Amino acid sequence: MKKVNLAVVGATGMVGRTFLKVLKEKNFPIDNLYLMASKRSAGTKLEYDGKEYIVEELTEHSFDKPIDIALFSAGGSTSEKFAPIAAAHGVIVVDNSAQWRQHPDVPLVVPEVNPEDISWNHGIIANPNCSTIQAVAVLKPLDDKYKIKRVVYSTYQAVSGAGVAGWNDLENGLKGEAPKKFPHPIAGNCLPHIDVFMENGYTKEEMKMIWETRKILHDPDLKVTATTVRVPVFSSHSESINVEFEKPIDDIEDVKKLLAAAPDVVLVDDPANNKYPLAIDAAGTDEVYVGRIRRDESVENGINLWVVADNIRKGAATNAVQIAEILAEAMDK
Ligand SMILES: NC(=O)c1ccc[n+]([C@@H]2O[C@H](COP(=O)([O-])OP(=O)(O)OC[C@H]3O[C@@H](n4cnc5c(N)ncnc54)[C@H](OP(=O)(O)O)[C@@H]3O)[C@@H](O)[C@H]2O)c1
Repeated sequence: MKKVNLAVVGATGMVGRTFLKVLKEKNFPIDNLYLMASKRSAGTKLEYDGKEYIVEELTEHSFDKPIDIALFSAGGSTSEKFAPIAAAHGVIVVDNSAQWRQHPDVPLVVPEVNPEDISWNHGIIANPNCSTIQAVAVLKPLDDKYKIKRVVYSTYQAVSGAGVAGWNDLENGLKGEAPKKFPHPIAGNCLPHIDVFMENGYTKEEMKMIWETRKILHDPDLKVTATTVRVPVFSSHSESINVEFEKPIDDIEDVKKLLAAAPDVVLVDDPANNKYPLAIDAAGTDEVYVGRIRRDESVENGINLWVVADNIRKGAATNAVQIAEILAEAMDK
């Protein structure tokens, strides 16, 4: 693979630091590495592969130098302003914010599900929401075989999904301190409130899961609903997914076989021995874990699933680095 000039925008953040970890673990072929953040942390020293890098302030001139790929995780407003500037300089941006995900010219990609969409990018590729990535990784093989009719998501999301500030709220809340990031204490609590409330009564996180599932599975009319909940867990999102299909499932074992064979999906489904996916087991790994697979006996062709993944790794950094790997391979040709 050709070595690429890579920028990490938001390098000091929760996702940004994990980018660096995942890039190193995957031995991503880097020629020059540029780390960028806001003025606040310009000058901060970060280590990558035994070398020290100075974080530079992101400005309109940051992409004047030759950069091939930029991994952005610095929030929506930063992406709104700077991703087009980078793209205009010939950089391919892989953006972690929600800013570009629904834009018709921007592919929304999970490499195990719709890698083919990378090829029609116009300089910006969006990384889906963490809760969507792990869901579609298990839905795709089932959709291919049984054709999904309706999906009901209920999520149990880790505080790390709200960045460093979310993590601190749980850590400090466990010591009795008042929350600073969340509107209520998260320690000992569940908050049915992730991102802002919208006019239809859903939260934006819920709508993101709905919109993004449709876009990634290329089914704009797919029936999807969601309730997203923040829970006092540091790492990994857990999801209960109820799915109804067009076609009958003759044997539930076939569903398990399909999921066991799906790329980067691990089947953990041995309830007799108390084995099912757990947040603490998924933390620090790149796979999506699925278990508790059973029929939904209240409908004709339905099943229930329990799906867990590390929201900062597969839900953000790992997925983006996988996209960058595909881009780097294509640059080699
Ligand atoms: N956490 C997750 O599970 C997750 C999953 C998927 C996507 N995302 C998305 O990834 C992004 C970052 O999330 P995070 O959890 O890593 O947040 P975070 O820990 O709060 O980090 C935010 C990063 O963005 C940088 N930043 C903020 N404003 C900036 C600006 N004006 N110019 C340049 N850099 C700026 C910060 O730099 P300073 O150090 O200078 O403040 C920091 O590096 C968000 O868009 C989030 O929605 C997060």
